[in-house]
Amino acid sequence: MRVITKVAAMQRLAGEWRRHGARVGFVPTMGYLHEGHLSLVRVARRRAGRAGKVVVSIYVNPTQFGPKEDFTRYPRDLRRDLKLCRAEGVDVVFVPGDGEMYPQAGPGHSDDRTAPRAAPATGFSTYVVEEALSQGMEGAARPGHFRGVTTVVAKLFNIVQPDVAVFGAKDFQQAAVVKRMVRDLSIPVRIIVAPTVREPDGVAMSSRNKYLSPDERKQAAVLPQIIRKARQLVAEETNSKTSITAHALKLEVSRLVARHPAVRCDYIEIFDPLTLQPLKKASRGAHLALAVFVGNTRLIDNARL
Ligand code: PAJ
Repeated sequence: MRVITKVAAMQRLAGEWRRHGARVGFVPTMGYLHEGHLSLVRVARRRAGRAGKVVVSIYVNPTQFGPKEDFTRYPRDLRRDLKLCRAEGVDVVFVPGDGEMYPQAGPGHSDDRTAPRAAPATGFSTYVVEEALSQGMEGAARPGHFRGVTTVVAKLFNIVQPDVAVFGAKDFQQAAVVKRMVRDLSIPVRIIVAPTVREPDGVAMSSRNKYLSPDERKQAAVLPQIIRKARQLVAEETNSKTSITAHALKLEVSRLVARHPAVRCDYIEIFDPLTLQPLKKASRGAHLALAVFVGNTRLIDNARL
């Protein structure tokens, strides 16, 4: 397994692979890897084939964090990440520094649009912005977040030049936004979305679960409970051939959340999984997404109803 830190070196190797006709599977991450990430690596390996190459990138991308978010304290453990990648048979781990990804950028934060725009000609000043699917939910709750995501993912695609890239359903809106970007900008990569990997109590695996105290970790089980409850309500309505309004469903869910003192709801949305537009009725096939604070930690989850 090779560890590459330079953009030019990664591009050179990707070019060599292309000339030899090797299929390349790619999993972009921010590191602190868990089973969720590793499940994506396995999908990438299957898609690339035995003769193909698998690349994992590890980069905590500053431009997708708001100024008051957890960029500086985001968990990092490169040694452990590299060990896990080696065990999965990853061919290359791409670990660029900020200077490689955002040469001479000013403050990297996504909300920093009020900063003087007299960027020097050598600074970083080009972003990729998706303007429809990124508006609601995470986009509304975290201004500038998806601009950071689409920009860094577009850059990573140009650097790694993968045939296939694998994203997790855990970040449903992110996967939808990336798919749209790839289609709109004709980027020659196939996007695969792999299922959410969960802990035994149903909580989705996440690097941010590390922030939770033991008591908060127990209360985090409210997220999968909400999903179960919503599914149950929709199933009951489907059986009686009626349908529950999104409003009524949200009320039921708020009641569940209220029973957990450490939990505060950021948003709950019922939406069409293709357009991401909010729905008035919660029926089978609709999608539910939610973001909650457990203590100070913000967790998200989603599921098809
Ligand atoms: P990160 O949060 O590290 O997640 C990397 C990938 O792993 C994403 O596609 C995410 O959806 C997936 N993932 C996370 N938890 C998962 C789980 N429990 N089950 C399945 N997949 C899971 O998402 C990002 O990083 C960044 O925004 C990135 C795309 C790397 C751009 O910076």
